[in-house]
Amino acid sequence: MLASFLEKIEQRTAVVGVVGLGYAGLPLVVGFAQAGLRVIGVDVDAGRVAELQAGRSYVEDVPAATIAELVRAGRLSATTDAAALAETDAIIICVPTPLRKSREPDLSFVVAASDRAVALARPGQLFVLESTTYPGTTDEILAPRLAERGLTVGVDVFLAFSPERVDPGNKRFGLKNTPKVVGGVTEACTQAATALYATAVDQVVPVSSPRAAEMTKLLENTFRAVNIALVNEVALMCTALKLDVWEVIAAASTKPYGFMTFTPGPGIGGHCLPVDPLYLSWKLKALNANARFIDLADEINSQMPAHVVELTAQALDEGGGRLRGSDVLVIGAAYKPNISDVRESPALDVLIELERRGARPAYHDPHVPALRIDDLALHSEPLTAERLANAAAVIVVTAHKDIDYDLIATHARLIIDTRNALAPRSTAARVVKL
Ligand SMILES: NC(=O)c1ccc[n+]([C@@H]2O[C@H](COP(=O)([O-])OP(=O)(O)OC[C@H]3O[C@@H](n4cnc5c(N)ncnc54)[C@H](O)[C@@H]3O)[C@@H](O)[C@H]2O)c1
Repeated sequence: MLASFLEKIEQRTAVVGVVGLGYAGLPLVVGFAQAGLRVIGVDVDAGRVAELQAGRSYVEDVPAATIAELVRAGRLSATTDAAALAETDAIIICVPTPLRKSREPDLSFVVAASDRAVALARPGQLFVLESTTYPGTTDEILAPRLAERGLTVGVDVFLAFSPERVDPGNKRFGLKNTPKVVGGVTEACTQAATALYATAVDQVVPVSSPRAAEMTKLLENTFRAVNIALVNEVALMCTALKLDVWEVIAAASTKPYGFMTFTPGPGIGGHCLPVDPLYLSWKLKALNANARFIDLADEINSQMPAHVVELTAQALDEGGGRLRGSDVLVIGAAYKPNISDVRESPALDVLIELERRGARPAYHDPHVPALRIDDLALHSEPLTAERLANAAAVIVVTAHKDIDYDLIATHARLIIDTRNALAPRSTAARVVKL
């Protein structure tokens, strides 16, 4: 089985199926198609499938022209019909892994996608899970389903986990030059998955098991979430000590070893950092163990949006005004600069908190034309001198590159700068930094 699989990869005759064509799945589809493999993308979202079939892109990092060319060349196709997976040699699952309202892992997408993929499984196929999840998911969800079909993992079929490391908006590191970690259930599984990814990725890093690969991803994201929480707490300490946290971080960053720069902000956002570490802490709790750093980091990071609104209220108060009834303009709604993704964005929490405290929230974001958060429906407002002058306070939440900070510095009356985005400009306004 392995020799025949490797031969198909070598000859580029293998057909790859990718289930879930979002921020993670789409770059993968394109990467394999560009590597010379035929790729079939499967998604339950008929709109996304139609866009791809028409050669259009809905992910900013993936150019429409690239998709159009691959579709035209017959190397890429998309469908809502999972039956198409029957003709594939490798199936990669990239569906969402969100949290339930109870903040517990929601694996319903992984279960549904696994059911669909495994229903048509045949000997010789490779299955890879890429969705970020707690250690044990590949073994607990995919392996038993394959066994129920009478397929022995490592003998009849191959099974592995490989974490998705895509960093939306990153121009320097993409699929090809970001090393890919792969952990198979058996040595043959790791070999099959390594060979597949090596067609599209410069460096593949094999590890001993799917659990090790699952844990690797959670270590990476927990590392970021914890360090952001640490620097957020240092920002609060600096406020109490009447120090400028940005000056302290810039000075510490001159140390050539043993220090890595993280910057504070209004909270953490995106599909990954606020969510993934909680998958790990949930798993630990199920084992009667603790993940204290994760829980503390979650607590600190979750408090930041309310802290930013409190800073705004205090600054208005000190100027003789008050938050209730005030027009407050938030700059940036996306969870990080230069992208349009608003999932879990702290800007949403800031806007909701402003509304809860009786202010009149508004926002400007060149990447996000409209927003709906519960009952609050807003449109991005044009950034003009008049609009800025009318706002009682302007809160910089996301430091997109294409925002006119000079205009803000000149016309805003009060600026809450959570990203140090206005430095080193001198401003007519009073500036409160995090
Ligand atoms: N977005 C990122 O930057 C990023 C980075 C690293 C890891 N990840 C991980 O990758 C996984 C996917 O995230 P994403 O950002 O691509 O999500 P996404 O919401 O952008 O895309 C997921 C896609 O899966 C589709 N889908 C859902 N259920 C399906 C099913 N049963 N069958 C077929 N398609 C289905 C959805 O319609 C959607 O198009 C998550 O586990 C996430 O944590 C994401």
